[in-house]
Amino acid sequence: MKLACEILYILSAICFIVGLKGLSNPKTARRGNLFSAVGMGIAIVTSLLYPIELASGKMISPVNFAANNYFWILGGLMIGSLIGWQRAVKVEMTAMPQLVSIFNGFGGLSAMLLGILEALKFDNETTILQSIIVFSAMVIGAISFSGSVLAYLKLDGKVKDKHVMLPAHNIINLLLLALTIGSVVFAIMNPSTLSIAIAAVLALVYGFSFVAPIGGADMPVVISLLNSVTGISAAVAGYLYDNQIMILGGILVGASGTILTLLMCRAMNRSILNVVAGGFGSAAVGAGVGAAAGGDEDRTIQEASPIDIAILLNYANQVIMVPGYGMAVAQAQKQAKELDTLLTEKGVEVFYGIHPVAGRMPGHMNVLLAEVDISYDKLLDLDDCNSRLTDTDIVLIIGANDVVNPSALDDPSSNIYGMPILEVWNAKQTVVFKRSMKPGYAGIQNPLFFHDNNKMLFGDAKDSLGKIIDELKTL
Ligand code: TAP
Repeated sequence: MKLACEILYILSAICFIVGLKGLSNPKTARRGNLFSAVGMGIAIVTSLLYPIELASGKMISPVNFAANNYFWILGGLMIGSLIGWQRAVKVEMTAMPQLVSIFNGFGGLSAMLLGILEALKFDNETTILQSIIVFSAMVIGAISFSGSVLAYLKLDGKVKDKHVMLPAHNIINLLLLALTIGSVVFAIMNPSTLSIAIAAVLALVYGFSFVAPIGGADMPVVISLLNSVTGISAAVAGYLYDNQIMILGGILVGASGTILTLLMCRAMNRSILNVVAGGFGSAAVGAGVGAAAGGDEDRTIQEASPIDIAILLNYANQVIMVPGYGMAVAQAQKQAKELDTLLTEKGVEVFYGIHPVAGRMPGHMNVLLAEVDISYDKLLDLDDCNSRLTDTDIVLIIGANDVVNPSALDDPSSNIYGMPILEVWNAKQTVVFKRSMKPGYAGIQNPLFFHDNNKMLFGDAKDSLGKIIDELKTL
């Protein structure tokens, strides 16, 4: 039985790795997700069947050992699966980061509860190493749980950055971290219900306080960071129970979360320390995305109507659409595809320029465009897109803003300075689809709007695209 279980563990490990590999490409992402889910199913069932070794060295079936627990385990699995399924089916694409955050938080909560339960079993025979492992799972899980809950509340707009940020917050965080570590050391030396509870509560407070100063466009990075932290707590808990698949699963989550965090930081030209120290764009975000930043009053924009844009498109040879967060809000992907089909029928070459951090989560734009079956061959990454722009007649910037902001290249005082961006102004004409002159998520004005070869088409992106399609059909 033990050998069969170990073979099944290897099978689920293979499913995890194949699944992760699949997730790295839009073409194989759906299959990759399915592989990972199957791997997780095998891992859970196998863990429930894995024989238990008694103190005498005798192996017994877990069914005989703890038959009563199966009621609770299967009951918990069913309730959790139903809630997870229901939330995942209902969630809007724009609310995906919140969902990931809260799901991640529950992973941390389970690691914390496992740690507490095991810590309560400490006796004279518990070694220091065992104590460190148990408390690591508990503390890392607690930080991940409360941090993820605050991230969820912030992203869902239920808590504003300024409501939870204190003066000299980073110093408070360092003090809280020191207190948490001190309480853990004390609890290891003097294990009791009270000392364990104090360590758990301090870790929860630290997790909350850790996320408090971070806001604005940095939130997706923090979610990814917390995700990797949860992976580490799961791996530690796996070590606690000598469960190889839990260790491996935790390490995979920890490693992939860390890589994703670093890739996001690189795409935004930020260091992880800079993100964790917080405060990015908080003035703008805290004040709400307001009107245009100062200094632009004397500059003029060129406003266009859908018919103007339809006429321009009718004479174009190559068009690139740059989708952003606003496209997700407007749910304009179907209209983008319809415009693409119409233009392609007229002999126009159509591509999509995808910035790695467009939208609010990695791959956000790829998912939107895949929903309406836009061919992957038409998607250009940052470098490919930039190298094509000089030969492009029109770039349609649909609900994107920060990812096409030239300040990232030429304004050292800008908080996005250094971030690689789509250099859309190199095309012959750009058209920005948005509803107002409000800034994007970074909270800064976009000088592109005032360029001579740019036109602004104000309105909801879905409506504007619909009107252009109607006009184009009559030309
Ligand atoms: P943003 O800069 O946030 O701009 C979105 C634009 O969409 C806004 O200017 C908004 O203007 C417009 N908009 C909103 N609803 C609209 C609608 N219904 N119709 C038309 N326009 C609409 O988006 P982006 O260019 O995609 O940049 C993403 C930002 O998130 C960056 O700052 C990036 O660093 C940050 N970020 C992303 C990630 C990932 S992984 N994607 C991770 C961390 C940070 P109006 O309100 O005037 O309409």
